[in-house]
Amino acid sequence: MSQDLPRLRTQILRVTDKELGNFRDGDGQEKLGLWEVSHSESPSIRILHDAAHYLKTKNTPVAFPTETVYGLGADATRSAAVKGIYTAKKRPSDNPLIIHISDLEMLRSILVPENASNGTTDTSHDRIPEIYKPLIKKFWPGPLTILLPNPDPSRLAPEVTAGLKTFGVRMPNSPLALTLIKLTGAPLAAPSANASTKPSPTTAEHVLEDLDGRIEFILDGGPCFVGVESTVVDGLCDPPLILRPGGVSIDELRSCPGWEKVEKGYKDQSEMGKSVPRAPGMKYKHYSPKATVILYEATFAAGHDGIQAREVESFLQGRPSQEMPNGGSEGLKVGIIRTRYWKPAAGLRCGDFKSETVKTQNGQENNMTIELGVQEAELYGNTTEAPIGKLMDVSIGTDTRSIAHGLFSALRELDRRGADLIFVEGTVDDEDIGAAVMNRLRKAASQIRS
Ligand code: TXA
Ligand code: MG
Repeated sequence: MSQDLPRLRTQILRVTDKELGNFRDGDGQEKLGLWEVSHSESPSIRILHDAAHYLKTKNTPVAFPTETVYGLGADATRSAAVKGIYTAKKRPSDNPLIIHISDLEMLRSILVPENASNGTTDTSHDRIPEIYKPLIKKFWPGPLTILLPNPDPSRLAPEVTAGLKTFGVRMPNSPLALTLIKLTGAPLAAPSANASTKPSPTTAEHVLEDLDGRIEFILDGGPCFVGVESTVVDGLCDPPLILRPGGVSIDELRSCPGWEKVEKGYKDQSEMGKSVPRAPGMKYKHYSPKATVILYEATFAAGHDGIQAREVESFLQGRPSQEMPNGGSEGLKVGIIRTRYWKPAAGLRCGDFKSETVKTQNGQENNMTIELGVQEAELYGNTTEAPIGKLMDVSIGTDTRSIAHGLFSALRELDRRGADLIFVEGTVDDEDIGAAVMNRLRKAASQIRS
């Protein structure tokens, strides 16, 4: 297998300019028709020119920010480059990848079969299906991926579509990403830039944690604003389907003509084995930290004072102390991720909290600031007098958008601090983008309380 490549030197390149380009919107033309890159010769623009050249000529992917999560990008028209994504992620190439475009002109050029006579803009008819027009108008650039028929022959490398007759595409809402794509002159195939099974990265540091030595460049545009991946929809079937919940909610979709009856075309873990605590061996590993995650569904969490102390004790009973990461010398490390109802410590017995360490996260395209505050205290069992370990408590906010923004960061932060066990207070599916949050949490969890 080609999985063990020589170690690369991984660099984080900070891109600070916000004025990287603009949509050309002068003469009543459609707003997203063309992305024009700024003629400035600022260091940020130079970094993006170099990264685009690298993407055109090398087969190692480049990590870049979008408004959802960091992506691991490769030229979607070159097989060798797309294969490089799978090598870097240590993941088998069985899933179709989303491609990212800078403007509608680029999208139209992909919809034309490759051998069509030189036509990037086929004026005879518009190949973008009507059903998607209201979505494009309302949500692009933004966290929405649509499925389109892949022409035969296609400009896209076959590895992008994993043998399907359709491809998934979105226009990301990040000037950095749009500029990188435009300068590359080709769509970028990009899954999230995490190692396979880990939570998706929402900062450049998260990417480095997972892919250090496996790629050469991480473009750093600050923390991602949305924090969960895009919503994937299929409008080619009737009724249209949501294939993956994400940064655009079902209610927002339903407000668009032709999308009133959109249905959920994905299944969540909880619906597959409702309220049955799954055995650890059965765990479907995805979006997961190293720690064991126990998820409390919102309705259950709201009706309880918090975590039952016996949860921790039964976890301890199942694990001999020498199995703990530090040989048991520091005891058990329990993390808590709180949202709406849980109080600090969420019902577990603990000593006084040491002063909170706050990591401030700024949303990328917006001045929204979110604070990820982690408080630590000694953890006590229900019956024992001596501490049994450490408690690490994080609140990620009470509204769904903040919860989405902080979720992957909080899971990673607790992992970094060596958590053995993480309890998460879930949120409600039908509020805004709560379905995306809960979908990811159900996949990350070893056990679900509902
Ligand atoms: O927010 C996002 O969408 C992130 C950022 C980096 O843009 N990207 C992302 O890409 O999550 P990726 O490649 O990991 O998403 C792949 C998922 C597949 O698992 C599948 O659910 C869906 O997108 N998908 C892509 N192409 C498809 C197709 N032709 N048919 C059905 N589903 C498809
Ligand atoms: Mg992913």
